[in-house]
This record gives sequence, structure tokens and C-alpha cells, in this order.
Amino acid sequence: MLAVPEMGLPGLYIGSSPERSPVPSPPGSPRTQESCGIAPLTPSQSPKPEARAPQQASFSVVVAIDFGTTSSGYAFSFSSDPEAIHMMRKWEGGDPGVAHQKTPTCLLLTPEGAFHSFGYTARDYYHDLDPEEARDWLYFEKFKMKIHSTTDLTLKTQLEAVNGKKMPALEVFAHALRFFKEHALQELREQCPSLPERDTVRWVLTVPAIWKQPAKQFMREAAYLAGLVSREDAEQLLIALEPEAASVYCRKLRLHQLMDLSGRTPGGGRLGERRSIDSSFRHAREQLRRSRHSRTFLVESGVGELWAEMQAGDRYMVADCGGGTVDLTVHQLEQPHGTLKELYKASGGPYGAVGVDLAFEQLLCRIFGEDFIATFKRQRPAAWVDLTIAFEARKRTAGPHRAGALNISLPFSFIDFYRKQRGHNVETALRRSSVNFVKWSSQGMLRMSCEAMNELFQPTVNGIIQHIEALLARPEVQGVKLLFLVGGFAESAVLQHAVQAALGARGLRVVVPHDVGLTILKGAVLFGQAPGVVRVRRSPLTYGVGVLNRFVDGRHPPDKLLVRDGRRWCTDVFERFVAAEQSVALGEEVRRSYCPARPGQRRVLINLYCCAAEDARFITDPGVRKCGALSLELEPADGGRDSTGAAPGRREIRAAMQFGDTEIKVTAVDVSTNRSVRAAIDFLSN
Ligand SMILES: Nc1ncnc2c1ncn2[C@@H]1O[C@H](COP(=O)(O)OP(=O)(O)OP(=O)(O)O)[C@@H](O)[C@H]1O
Ligand SMILES: [Mg+2]
Repeated sequence: MLAVPEMGLPGLYIGSSPERSPVPSPPGSPRTQESCGIAPLTPSQSPKPEARAPQQASFSVVVAIDFGTTSSGYAFSFSSDPEAIHMMRKWEGGDPGVAHQKTPTCLLLTPEGAFHSFGYTARDYYHDLDPEEARDWLYFEKFKMKIHSTTDLTLKTQLEAVNGKKMPALEVFAHALRFFKEHALQELREQCPSLPERDTVRWVLTVPAIWKQPAKQFMREAAYLAGLVSREDAEQLLIALEPEAASVYCRKLRLHQLMDLSGRTPGGGRLGERRSIDSSFRHAREQLRRSRHSRTFLVESGVGELWAEMQAGDRYMVADCGGGTVDLTVHQLEQPHGTLKELYKASGGPYGAVGVDLAFEQLLCRIFGEDFIATFKRQRPAAWVDLTIAFEARKRTAGPHRAGALNISLPFSFIDFYRKQRGHNVETALRRSSVNFVKWSSQGMLRMSCEAMNELFQPTVNGIIQHIEALLARPEVQGVKLLFLVGGFAESAVLQHAVQAALGARGLRVVVPHDVGLTILKGAVLFGQAPGVVRVRRSPLTYGVGVLNRFVDGRHPPDKLLVRDGRRWCTDVFERFVAAEQSVALGEEVRRSYCPARPGQRRVLINLYCCAAEDARFITDPGVRKCGALSLELEPADGGRDSTGAAPGRREIRAAMQFGDTEIKVTAVDVSTNRSVRAAIDFLSN
């Protein structure tokens, strides 16, 4: 769908329906310069956006939900004391050998599809169900990954429960969010009975920074369905990007709250105990300026050793190593306010800790047969859960300096089922298999050498290191000397050692906050209290619309020529709103005006296009795709005329889009009445 000029083209729509054809230009307004086509009405045609202060919502408490692939939780703080972060109540349940600060992202629905339980309760209840009965129940785990991996995500996308039954993903997410909402509100009411009910809570939902717009919108829709906020109070819900949230928290850390993997002690000195990194950055630079060669003072201060090496400014990288993804962001700390500027667009990939679980599953397939493991998972799901719990605990004890083998207990149900299926026992299977680093222990367990366990980590760990190395090689991030490893997987000694060995040697300081598993959650609370802290972001993609330009011979390809009423137009021109990698500040707006084509038109729909390249010329170029639609809902104009008496064709709707926030946002006003127009960008109905 193209934006077409109204001038001289009454009734001309390019596309299937008039309702979908925006008319961006009023009579007499198209610019005549060669580069310009159908100019929008506003003077802000220039790609240089304008800045606007972000809207403030009212709230007295921020509740952040870290919705993870493997584990989830919430935390909150009151706006009267924003930095006092209250962690959610301890969860019931928990596994031996596994610290449980968050609860497993497991959801159980009854055979009728009603909510039953979430977290440990869900997992254990499902586990204890009679196997026959369990087949009717809907049990979901690790379902967050599906949202990123589905390329054509819509509100109708389905998720498959362990028993193979399908259900709309939106409902599954809404069930989980509703659970957190109720838990959090209950805890808030108990802590603070005087808290008013309405407009009290600002909710923050975390998503990986590498998620695309449709996935972010999907989470927002799930939050509406769960009743976290209403669509009318959309600004009471913030989407936070996980590594960004971690960064917001890391910059507040005091140095003694960090573990330096090189073995140096950043928090060893007096200063480390008192100052946050934010102020230490400032302090260290100040010291450096005043006493260029006075390393003695800096070392004494306890901060010098760490920060003196940061030569090109206060730049650092944060790697959120979670269950499903590894998500990276690179920030520069800005003075004097300690705001953050993103230096390179968010990147990462599917190198989460579940990669290690999958490697273990593949190992079992090699030993016992892929078909057997598939049948076992399907027919004895509770025993399969048991096995994964046993592996999880052992996985956490793995480390490069560990000596001696590890035992993983096989559930009796596994041993029994194998004998029934195959006619011989598991011990025989192990003896016959080509895998010689897993043995059968006389106590009825799988006995695995620690080298073999470390091997299971290698593909995932290598993926993380290669990704960080590729990022460090980019010119935009030169000068980064510090890497924060955060997220649950960052607790792994195997990962810590491998990252330090590979990147420490290149001069990168690798540090791990003490409460590494909760960094994202705490940061998300701080972000909710002051979302302006991330002042500048990088657009991950180029976004724009298709327009008509005046056709210029020699400049435009002949196959794009469109002649209407004697006028020559170049069709399919990609008009860029923002370029991939462009720095965009919070509140900056790209403004465009559109005129409804017909009097009485109630809706204008404009297709949005995106691509990874910065310089696409046409919406038909390779790599350019339709990614969403901007919709403007119009109030009926009085008698076909607006309140100023202007002809209907001149009715001007001014849209302002923001690309510098965690989500792309739009607002619009009807210029003649100065009334706001309902505007939205839909990324889910392509
Ligand atoms: N000591 C450890 N060794 C190995 N893996 C660990 C360790 N501690 C936690 N993990 C892994 O970290 C993962 C949980 O981390 P986290 O809670 O940050 O992930 P998540 O938030 O659920 O996932 P994501 O952020 O990718 O959606 C689990 O897969 C767990 O197995
Ligand atoms: Mg996470």
C-alpha cells in the first residue's frame, strides 16, 4: 500500500481498498525538489526528528515482572523510596541443589483449559498426577522461546502443551501474567494496606532486547488480556529490555558487590564500599585528570585498578546470559546525570543455558535411541521432568576445576520403561553405545566424567564468546574495556571461566555482580521508576513507508513509472523514517501529516516497511518487507467539513512517531480541531 497524493488524483488509490490509502499531501503542497515526492503537510519533513518530553504516568509503586524462559519472578519499589527494591516473597517448593530466587516458568491448566497453578506448584502437581490423568492436563514450560522463533507471530499463534494439545499463545502468556499480577498485588496489599487501588501500579515487563516489534506488542497484548493495565492506560505498562535493565542496575552497583573474574578485587578498597559505579566512573575520571601519573593514589582508592584502564570513556558491555537467549547491549555512561546511551543496536542469539539441557538430551538420544527418548517424553512426562530436575542440579555443580565424576540419577520409571520397550536393561544400552564417557554406576545412576559434562556446555559457551568477540570488533564499540556477565547462566563456573579465558586475554575486564540472577529484575524496577535513564538507543532496523515521488528520468527506473491524468509518478519509493543503527533519543519524534482521501472517512491505514539495510530505495527492494500498519481512527467531521470550515480534503491528521523508546510509539492529532486522534501501530496482523 502506498501513500498517494490527493492533488490531481481524486479517487486514485493504489492498493485494494480506499480505506487503506493514506493521502499525505494537500493540494499545492508537494515539494518540487527532485528528491522529494509527495510531501507531507508538516514542515518537519526533514528526517531530523524533534524532541518531546516523554509522557508521565501517575503511580506510587513500580512492579517489574521478569518473565524468563526458564524462571520468572517479580520485584517492586515504592516511588517514595525508589531504590529500595523489594524482592518477591519466597516461592513455595524449590529443588535440592538449585537456588530458587525466581520460580520456574511452568504453567498448568486443567483439562478444561482453566488456570490451575504456576511455578514449582504447577510442576510438582503435574509431576504427581496419575500418568493416565496427566495426559488430559495442559502443561507448558519454556514457552517464551516460541515467541522469538515464530517468524509470523500473530495474536492467533498457538502453543503446544506437553501432551500435544494446542492453545492460543496469548492465553498461555496471559494466564502466567495474571498469576504474577495477583501475587504481587496481594503482597502489596499486605505490605501497604493504605495503597489506593487505582492508578497505583506502574507495571514493567521484561523482554529480550533482540525481540522484534511483533513480539513486544504480543507481550503488551497478553498484559491487557491479563488485566495488568487496560488499553486506555497503556502508559501504565512499560516494556523493559533485559540487558538494558541489567545495565541500569549495574551502573548503581558498589564495587564490592562485584566479582572480578580476573581475580583482582575491584571492591577491595575504602571507595569500593561506599561508591556506586556511577559515581566511581566520575570519581575515577576526575582522579585521572587531576593526577595523571598518580597510580598509587588510584590503586589505594580501590577503584583505580579497575577504571584507570577505561581510556575511551565510560563504555561497557552487558551480556544477559539467560535460559533461552544471550542478549547483549553496549552502553556509554553520560555525565552529569548518569544517563545511558546505547552504542550499538541490541544483539544476541539462542545461546541460553537450555542449550546445555538440549546437549544432554542429545546425549541420551545417542545412548538410548532418539525414538525411545521421544516416546518416553510423551508417555512418561512426569518421569521426564524428574530427569531434567536431576540434571539441572548436576549442571550447576559443573566447573573447570572440578575433579571426579558426576552422578545423575535415572528415575526408576525410565529404567523400567526402557526394559519394557527394548527388552534389555539400560546398563546393556550403555555398554553397547558408542558413548564411552558415560558409565553405569552400581547405585543405579548415570556416571559422567566432568570433562564430558563440560563438553555439553561447549557449543553454547562458544556461541556466546564468538558473539561477544564479533561485537567487540565493531568500530562503534571501540573503547569497551568492561563486560558485565549477568543472568542465571552467568552463575555457571564453566561459562565464567571460558569467557574470562577468551576475553580476559584480550584486555577485557569481566565482572559478575554478586546477585547475578536477579540483576535484570532489580534493574527493571529501577527502569520503571525512571525510564528516561536510557536516553539514547539505536534503531535495530530501518523503518518507513511507501510513497509516490515525481518521476525523474534517468534517476528513477522506468518500471516504476506510473502515469495518472498526465502526471508522471515514481511508485514504490521507500520513504525512510529512521535508519538501522541510527541513534535516536528518547522523545524524538518523526512527524508526518496525512489527509483522509474522502469526506467522512473514518480510518486511515498506512503500511509500514522495514529492512536491515540503511539505504533501501524502494519498498520492493530485496530485504524490505511490510512489517506493520499505522492506523488513525477519525472522528466524523461535521457535515463533511471540519470545525474550521475547511474542505474535507484538507483535513489534516498529524502523526508523531517515536523510535527511541523500547517500543515504537505513535500519537496523532487532528490539526483543525487540535483533538487527539486514536493512533496505533499494529505489528501483529501482517
Ligand atoms: N550455576 C549454574 N550453572 C549452569 N547453569 C545455570 C546455573 N545457574 C543457573 N543456570 C541456568 O540459567 C538459566 C536461568 O537463568 P535466568 O533465570 O537468567 O534465565 P531466564 O530469565 O529464565 O531466561 P531468558 O532471560 O533467556 O528468558 C537456567 O537455564 C539455569 O539452568
Ligand atoms: Mg532472563
